[in-house]
Amino acid sequence: MSGIIIAPSILAADFSKLAQEVRDVADAGADRIHCDIMDGHFVDNISFGPAIVGFVRKETNLSLEAHLMIEHADHYVPRFVEAGVSCITVHIEPEAKHDVTNTLKQIRDCGCRAGLSLNPATPFSAVEPLLDRIDLLLVMTVQPGFGGQAFRAEMMEKVQRAAAWNKTYGTKFDIEVDGGINPGTARQAIENGANALVAGTSIFHTEDYSKAIRALRGG
Ligand code: DX5
Ligand code: ZN
Repeated sequence: MSGIIIAPSILAADFSKLAQEVRDVADAGADRIHCDIMDGHFVDNISFGPAIVGFVRKETNLSLEAHLMIEHADHYVPRFVEAGVSCITVHIEPEAKHDVTNTLKQIRDCGCRAGLSLNPATPFSAVEPLLDRIDLLLVMTVQPGFGGQAFRAEMMEKVQRAAAWNKTYGTKFDIEVDGGINPGTARQAIENGANALVAGTSIFHTEDYSKAIRALRGG
């Protein structure tokens, strides 16, 4: 399927050879690299921070997107910009403890694309007031925190509403889905209006990354 952006999540990569994993997935046809940042507070897991992102930056020319599943994202935005990301996605939920409108502006003022994400339990209406000031909407199709979970098809209603919003209001934000994406669920997400797919397990836990990425694009 043409025009579909594939963003492998390095959370599922083998960190003992992360540099090679990043080069391999880039060679395999990835469009950008998705970096899942978890602080053990907003989500119940700790992943990695700006230093690792900086190493990833050195291994590829692909753009990097940081998905911040952390409290006080505004405090850390400058460090991820410094590490070389070109898109920063933050969460709308109050538990993320930041002024979302200000953080989105801060991200754009740094020259990055601004992404907004919503957890499965958060309704689409929560993000509506901010859709004119984002470059990407990240629809979580699992509860954030861990890779390898099952896709929640009921989230497709949010994808449909986002696609309808772009059409109605002439906005052009990416509609990206994250969690449990494999060739079957990728197809569902695309059919409902997603144009960008985050995938960890279904790429990094296979032998042939090119084949896995082609399968996500629809074969
Ligand atoms: C979940 C992360 C996802 C996750 C996707 O908290 O935001 O990016 O790593 O992993 P898979 O593709 O394994 O569901
Ligand atoms: Zn993510």
